Amino acid sequence: MFQAQAIASSDKSGFYSELTSQLEGLLAGESDPVANAANTSALLFQMMPDLNWAGFYIMRDGELVLGPFQGKPACVRIPVGRGVCGAAVARRQSMLVDDVHAFPGHIACDAASRSELVVPLIRDGEVIGVIDLDSPSPSRFDSADQAGIERIAEIYLAASAS
Ligand code: SME
Repeated sequence: MFQAQAIASSDKSGFYSELTSQLEGLLAGESDPVANAANTSALLFQMMPDLNWAGFYIMRDGELVLGPFQGKPACVRIPVGRGVCGAAVARRQSMLVDDVHAFPGHIACDAASRSELVVPLIRDGEVIGVIDLDSPSPSRFDSADQAGIERIAEIYLAASAS
């Protein structure tokens, strides 16, 4: 099993291949969306090096509401279009932010966060939430991480009931 230590970009495809297999095993036979989000965030936080927050925000009545996560307590409600998470919903695309201090409207839940990756959860064309990862290191995430977490989002959606 991979340990939570820095992974060179060149090794990330092997890391994500292992991580996605682990998630498929973890979610197999369970369709509860809250239980699956809880276990997905725990796996990400446990296995990915250099994170200070990993979790879900779920769309409820037109805004993002905090879901299962690992890390410090976080802001509960985020309007669409606000912060990195709200931008991912509004644009319906993943957001890779090398320096959160340079992102207009970034919401600082944990002052330690320096870079962020947010992947929207899209079911039947509708954004139902996001997966949000924060790191205390600038430029922690790259396109290999984005592709890996987009695959994690697909596995979560396929396993979980709406
Ligand atoms: N930084 C996020 C808010 C969520 S916390 O990072 C957990 C944002 O700007 O949307």
